[in-house]
Amino acid sequence: MRPLRILGSGSYLPEMTIDNNQMSEIVETSDAWILSRTGISSRHLSSGEGTTDMGEAAARYALEAAGIAAADLSAIIVSTVTPDHFTPSTSCEIQARIGADKAFCFDVNAACTGFVYALDIASRYLLDPEIGPILVVSTEALNKITDYSDRTTCVLFGDAAGAVIVDRAPETTVDSAVSSTAAVSAGSTMLASYLRAEGKNAASLVSTALPVSHPFLKKDHTATDCYSNANGHFLVMNGQEVYRFAIRALAESVEAAAASAGIEVSELDWIVPHQANLRILDAASRRLKVDQQKIVSRIRDLGNTSSASIPVCLDEMIRDGRLQRGQTVAITGFGGGLTYGCIIFRY
Ligand code: ACO
Repeated sequence: MRPLRILGSGSYLPEMTIDNNQMSEIVETSDAWILSRTGISSRHLSSGEGTTDMGEAAARYALEAAGIAAADLSAIIVSTVTPDHFTPSTSCEIQARIGADKAFCFDVNAACTGFVYALDIASRYLLDPEIGPILVVSTEALNKITDYSDRTTCVLFGDAAGAVIVDRAPETTVDSAVSSTAAVSAGSTMLASYLRAEGKNAASLVSTALPVSHPFLKKDHTATDCYSNANGHFLVMNGQEVYRFAIRALAESVEAAAASAGIEVSELDWIVPHQANLRILDAASRRLKVDQQKIVSRIRDLGNTSSASIPVCLDEMIRDGRLQRGQTVAITGFGGGLTYGCIIFRY
């Protein structure tokens, strides 16, 4: 068990919404096809907001909800695969904008599992009594890596940001900075974490970075890119492979985390999965034999917003009162890398 109490949360959705009929004006598709194959009806797309802009907005809402000042943050961890810049990191940009001058900052790239990885890292830092509170932001402007002439991918994605402020629960005591057996409260706490990656299967979901460009290249130089980059930096996906991986990864990670937490999957109050495709969520709920009502789904109106999808759902659940203190929640992500994982925590 590790310390983890969500003090406050926030999210940001760009104002512009594009429904399936509008998508069918740019690629050969239909509302019926998209809805039946993915469960997606509409998505929010940036109309100029950058990844940092969206992350900053979500961070400000989270700070307000937590009732703490940015100056009190000790760390900012951002997950994104669509940063505005390679450097500075998005976390440094958000730090400057909100004035979190005492925070150390870094970004995590674990694609759609980014929030799960980032929260796991945050909870490990919270074992150190000198660190906390921590701002975790997942912000994705997926439009940047989406090919809007490719109907097999462009109908899936939306833009969004979500954020949480985490700390130890008030009654938590941590004996030493390196203790892995910190005394954690009976209240908010992380019960289990299960993170995995399958780099060997990465080719099914790729967005290529910049090629080498210096003037001293040999004439016969060819880029050593082990993946096809025929589509430039736009995302290329083998939908059916990712589909099969996602169902397996979701079920495996929730079951493994529940076993590690010493609880049955049926005892979870909520499962908040990465929102990739309604069929993936339905198949996983059948495999896990859990009541579909416990599986949170916002895919219909938001599409797939990569690592932002889980914290956006959490924020909405906290704000509308569905998520109550003391309830047990599994968050589970799967995506590029290929990465996957699950955290179970008591809210
Ligand atoms: N509109 C109409 N027809 C389409 C569209 C579209 N938008 N996209 C594909 N088709 C066509 C194909 O061209 C194909 O036509 P053909 O039979 O004449 O060749 C037909 O529909 C079936 O294509 P499939 O790729 O087999 O469709 P599938 O049922 O597998 O659904 C989908 C595609 C929705 C992408 C599915 O594979 C999927 O959900 N995969 C999971 C991947 C995912 O969610 N990725 C998100 C990013 S990664 C992540 O978040 C984990």
